[in-house]
Amino acid sequence: MTVLEVRTKYLNFFKERGHVEIPSAPIVPGNDSTTLFTSSGMQPLVPYLLGQTHPAGIRLVDSQKCVRTGDIDEVGDNRHLTYFEMLGNWSLGDYFKQEQLPWIFEFLTSKEVGLGLDPSRLYVTVFAGDESLSIPKDAEAIELWKRLFGEKGIDAKDIVIGSEENGYKVGMQGARIFAYDAKKNWWSRSGVPSAMPAGEPGGPDSEVFYDFGKEHDPKWGEHCHPNCDCGRFVEIANSVFMEYVKQADGSFDKLVQRNVDFGGGLERLVMPTMAEGKVDDVFLADTLYSTITEIERLTGIQYSDEEYQKSFRIVADHVRAAVFIAGDDVRPSNTEAGYILRRLIRRAIRHLDKLGVESNTLATLGGRVIDAYKDTYTNLGEMRTQIEETLTTEEQKFRKTLQGGIKEFEKIVKHAQDKNIVSGHDAFVLASSYGFPVEITEELAMEKGLTVDVETFKKEMEEHTAKSRTASEGRFKGGLADHSEITVRYHTSHHLLLAALQHILGKDKVHQRGSNITPERVRLDFSFDRKLTPEEVTEAERMVNEKMDEALPVYVTSMPKDEAEKLGAEHEFGVKYGDMVTVYSMGPKDATQENPKFTESFSLEFCGGPHVSNTSELATDGKKFKILKEESVAAGIRRIKAVLV
Ligand code: ALA
Repeated sequence: MTVLEVRTKYLNFFKERGHVEIPSAPIVPGNDSTTLFTSSGMQPLVPYLLGQTHPAGIRLVDSQKCVRTGDIDEVGDNRHLTYFEMLGNWSLGDYFKQEQLPWIFEFLTSKEVGLGLDPSRLYVTVFAGDESLSIPKDAEAIELWKRLFGEKGIDAKDIVIGSEENGYKVGMQGARIFAYDAKKNWWSRSGVPSAMPAGEPGGPDSEVFYDFGKEHDPKWGEHCHPNCDCGRFVEIANSVFMEYVKQADGSFDKLVQRNVDFGGGLERLVMPTMAEGKVDDVFLADTLYSTITEIERLTGIQYSDEEYQKSFRIVADHVRAAVFIAGDDVRPSNTEAGYILRRLIRRAIRHLDKLGVESNTLATLGGRVIDAYKDTYTNLGEMRTQIEETLTTEEQKFRKTLQGGIKEFEKIVKHAQDKNIVSGHDAFVLASSYGFPVEITEELAMEKGLTVDVETFKKEMEEHTAKSRTASEGRFKGGLADHSEITVRYHTSHHLLLAALQHILGKDKVHQRGSNITPERVRLDFSFDRKLTPEEVTEAERMVNEKMDEALPVYVTSMPKDEAEKLGAEHEFGVKYGDMVTVYSMGPKDATQENPKFTESFSLEFCGGPHVSNTSELATDGKKFKILKEESVAAGIRRIKAVLV
């Protein structure tokens, strides 16, 4: 079955049982400052599980877009994903176990209305109870499962498999129903009961595992059991019986209502429907496989090639996650959701590089993802240009430093080999000069059997940020108010605006007479003998935006003052410069540090910096350059105030 078929079947199954379909909440939650991403179907519904009235009623069904960043490092095996969809059906104080378990069993096993899975390949788990919480073993769920399997002619024995401390020692023992401790069969957003904050809802759950019939790998322990990670069993469905709420004293009370929160990973449910349930690889689901085949086409390498399979999977997963995150209007940055997006994109690029892809490719792969989903998530189709541009810009940026960074890393490893550790300072250099997220450095290190001193890295990063704020004081007296990312962008926009005015009004007539830049706006004073027409103002604004869109590289070069003057580099009237000066050039597009092509640049100015490394960075978060005001400040001197919004 395809992803679309399974999603549609599930939604229809529950709609026919009185549920109202609700749309997926955005991946970046608008009203929850505690998490960067929606990571479960339950998250957007917490208020309703706690008793608030949901406008769509008490029986809901949905497919929620989720991102689990905690799983990034697991991606590469057959089943872990950062982006996934969670199918969910919800009882908000309505039905409970007696309806939920039979429905889920029917959906999984029915050929007519469900997935038609062979019931003899299904194994289930329930909560073993916890005396310290005064919550008993889930005898009701056990009885229900016995009946349901019995109806299929399967004698379902139940056993208590114990706790993690004893290593779940008992093994399978011919059982079908396994009772586990809270570590495995209790669900809340925060995990086990002891980790939950007061006021949070949670409860025992009952999971369904599919048996892929693989040999148990003893590296996972002496005995195999459904929750074993050897790969024989894969969890495909989880019914949470959410009827408890944690109290301030650590105990649990019953919630005002009994809820059901069902979660099923969409691709995981697709997996057993493919190839008669014999292939246990989520990446063969059509929505991921279309990216895999595109990578095969680009590289000539087969996905089945074990040497490269992990990289295929990382690229396919990360590109898809990046598309969905960018589709919620996030841009790569160094903080929060933007940082996760940057990390996903850069890691995908590094693995494309491992696969031998050297050119810009992410937008092509992202385009496949959009094609696969645009009918279900129309925002992706509408945002296609922005998403593809985001991928391209970030790829171009990282490609510039990737090879240099890898070379630098090799050098570092030579030094570090004896100590088995990459120093925090080296990781800092890779981050600040080569744009390597520390997690990429960690991954590179791991491949060589080394670790990274992340603590020191973090300290150095923090110190660096603090220092560059203070260092700017005095140095940019009339210029920059500070060194924050946004001020630096405004500084670059100042150069673009001056160059645009010179193009429009004449290079001889326009010269800088002063500047003042704050995190809120840019102010440029320049010589010119009359008021600008509205058309000239609009044209200047348009030209700056055009140069941002053109993604012009920005270079800084030191040179003797007279040479810079000969090149016609702009400098401020009345300012004294030394014999050697630094010059910032912006554009042309094919300029390089070795060959900056000054005579073809759009802007060339004497300047101490700092600036962004590419004019496209001014457009971060979809920003546009906007002139707010053009006015006179003195005879022959005009002033423009502008913002990036
Ligand atoms: N909220 C439950 C989960 O994420 C269903 O597994």
